[in-house]
Amino acid sequence: SSVVAVIPAAGIGSRMQADRPKQYLTLQGKTILEHTVEILLNHHAIDYLVIAISPHDTYFPSLAIANNPKVKVVEGGNERADSVLNAVNTLPDNTWALVHDAARPCVSTNDITQLLAVMDNEQVAGGILASRVRDTMKRGAASQGADINFPTVLHTESRENLWHALTPQLFPTALLKSALQDGLAACATITDEASAIEYSGHKVALIDSDPANIKITHPGDLPLANFYLHQRQK
Ligand code: C5P
Repeated sequence: SSVVAVIPAAGIGSRMQADRPKQYLTLQGKTILEHTVEILLNHHAIDYLVIAISPHDTYFPSLAIANNPKVKVVEGGNERADSVLNAVNTLPDNTWALVHDAARPCVSTNDITQLLAVMDNEQVAGGILASRVRDTMKRGAASQGADINFPTVLHTESRENLWHALTPQLFPTALLKSALQDGLAACATITDEASAIEYSGHKVALIDSDPANIKITHPGDLPLANFYLHQRQK
């Protein structure tokens, strides 16, 4: 069945402390968003792409991809989940939605292919790229009192079976629509698509991702992304 990529790109990326939303910063002569769009559209299984853009965005219309017939635009919402819902609401119910962060330009074609294999697996509703936690994980307590200005450890979490949720995240469009609607209506915490699917009681596959698939968040992530993009072109 047909696969449509959805890119939520309506955030402001305040942690980047840049003069523009992070997806419009340039790496190797192209914006981060253009790198991301290129890798998705170059995948043979992806038909077209829907990007959620902020109504206040002044950068997108000047990009060449704005005139690509395979790139459709919808208005973003207040939260990431609202942006994704606006995008999936434009898709036919019998498609699969492959949701990918604008800020992850280093995802590999091979990892996308691995994820697409969940479409043939009846044990799960869909799946996400993920990576195993490497460090020892501490639950912290907020800093208390004037004499202690750092958080302290409440306890150590077991890192066994603990994963970072990355993107792409792949689900049947009709299921994702209803799961996001239900989750938003219930004010559940939905920071990715899988959390909405889990909330509605469905199973999600964890597909081990290449560690290069970083989300550009802080200024220090830019040289790292540059390095991974360069590696990929070799
Ligand atoms: O802020 P963070 O990096 O977690 O955002 C993940 C993705 O969600 C980004 O690509 C951002 O542009 C997008 N987003 C969105 N609509 C919002 C907030 C974030 O499309 N209201």
